[in-house]
Amino acid sequence: MDSDRYLCIEGIGMTFETRKGDFVALERIDLTVKKGEFVSLIGHSGCGKSTLLNLVAGLLRPTEGGILLAEREIAGPGPDRGVVFQNHSLLPWLTCFDNVYLAVERVFPEKKNLLKERTHTALAMVGLTHAEAKYPHELSGGMKQRVGIARALAIEPKVLLLDEPFGALDALTRANLQDELMRIVGNTKATVLMVTHDVDEAVLLSDRIVMMTNGPAARIGGMVEVDLPRPRERLALAGSRRYMELRTTVMDFLYRKQLKQAA
Ligand SMILES: Nc1ncnc2c1ncn2[C@@H]1O[C@H](COP(=O)(O)OP(=O)(O)O)[C@@H](O)[C@H]1O
Ligand SMILES: [Mg+2]
Repeated sequence: MDSDRYLCIEGIGMTFETRKGDFVALERIDLTVKKGEFVSLIGHSGCGKSTLLNLVAGLLRPTEGGILLAEREIAGPGPDRGVVFQNHSLLPWLTCFDNVYLAVERVFPEKKNLLKERTHTALAMVGLTHAEAKYPHELSGGMKQRVGIARALAIEPKVLLLDEPFGALDALTRANLQDELMRIVGNTKATVLMVTHDVDEAVLLSDRIVMMTNGPAARIGGMVEVDLPRPRERLALAGSRRYMELRTTVMDFLYRKQLKQAA
């Protein structure tokens, strides 16, 4: 298998049928993600980031083109993709443990003790061992997102799909979770496609940033290779010249090149 072409988004177009007629959200999107690469999609609100992520998740079907993951066409949702949305989607009547266990049980045909072990491991990875028995309403927003990440990782997906996973959190919690995600991705070598509208988050976490033009008919307007060495440390980076350059490139795209058309 060609690990340079692990996730292949080929000639994707997405037109929604609405009451006011057809709405072209995405047009001719081509993107190839390497195995183990961390790619961020950035763009103004409404440009089609979530639409593209949902197409990869298999929650939407493209009206043009196709998507391949490890050489297999994506035809619907599947356990080879772990998805985390901005607002956690935990089942309120289940504990943290059971929320993760439920996902693990659906994916791995294994004995209960092995499934439990996987669940404990996933929750330990996000630092939630102490909260395994808690219910979602007993958790902070950051903890809920951690459970969501644990659940997505526990199924050992080929690719992790994150849609503004830290968007609803306060700045400090967001920073903590970004650091944690960097550490986990470093350890697991996960392949990640993340939607964000936060320039600093994109530069800090990504190997590559895909910049989308404003819709309708959004396209990829540019790409930035983030050549900052890993492991990355936010405080050290904040003062680094290369970090500032990369940040400026993305800001320039968003706030100069794409501003006029912004809604
Ligand atoms: N199911 C749908 N039906 C009609 N239009 C949609 C639908 N989903 C998204 N859109 C439109 O597609 C565009 C892109 O939406 P979205 O992908 O959610 O943007 P983003 O995540 O970048 O903010 C928006 O104009 C939105 O209104
Ligand atoms: Mg969105």
